[in-house]
Amino acid sequence: MKGLIAERLLASLGFGSRKDSRKIIRSKALEVDGQIIDDPNYKFQNKPEFIYVYGEKTPTIIDLYIMLHKPLQVECSHRPQHHVSVYSLLPERFLSMKLSSVGRLDVDSSGLLLLSNDGQFIHHLESPKRGILKRYSISLARPFSSDQEQALLTGVALKGERNIVHAKSLKVHSPTQIELEIGEGLYHQVRRMFAAVGNHVESLQRIAVGDLFLDSSLSPGDWRFLQKTDLEKLSFQNTKLFE
Ligand code: URA
Repeated sequence: MKGLIAERLLASLGFGSRKDSRKIIRSKALEVDGQIIDDPNYKFQNKPEFIYVYGEKTPTIIDLYIMLHKPLQVECSHRPQHHVSVYSLLPERFLSMKLSSVGRLDVDSSGLLLLSNDGQFIHHLESPKRGILKRYSISLARPFSSDQEQALLTGVALKGERNIVHAKSLKVHSPTQIELEIGEGLYHQVRRMFAAVGNHVESLQRIAVGDLFLDSSLSPGDWRFLQKTDLEKLSFQNTKLFE
């Protein structure tokens, strides 16, 4: 009879080797639809949408889409140089699942970081042609002038970049508290844009990508899986994930 074997399912989701997965199952840590499954050879006739492993709800899809509230002093790299890696904030079993961040945030920046192992999703969000907007909340060292505002909206040249970049939208909440949207994701772009007009960014937080805002229930370092409605806000669909 055809079916999906429990130990194989856990191994495919990054819970370790088949042997590791057998151990997990035998320790009664696998629960599906309210039932503990302690037989590693248990056959699912249909792949369950979610399983619980050590009580943690885990989607059974291989495509992962994650929202992380990136804290300060954490590097968006698998091989960090001076600080811990963002990947160390995620469960260890994700490490084998080839996750990448979608657009990096500097060590000194915090906020919304999306991570995925779906190349199409990453391309969708990073493609300059689509120009999906990233929104930042910024504290400045010096009062923001209307000349600076005008220059950022008109466009500034950044050293080493071919094209002029400009703010797609800009809100001034107070003389030193600004919100701005950009379409690109160039290296240190926001800091360089403010430096180019003679100001200095003191703190920078990404608060949205497209129409998807950082979930206010996530504290720095917390993460959650993206839901169907989140992907819709990014104009992205994965029919395998949510039927
Ligand atoms: N722009 C920056 O300068 N830094 C970031 O982390 C993101 C955008």
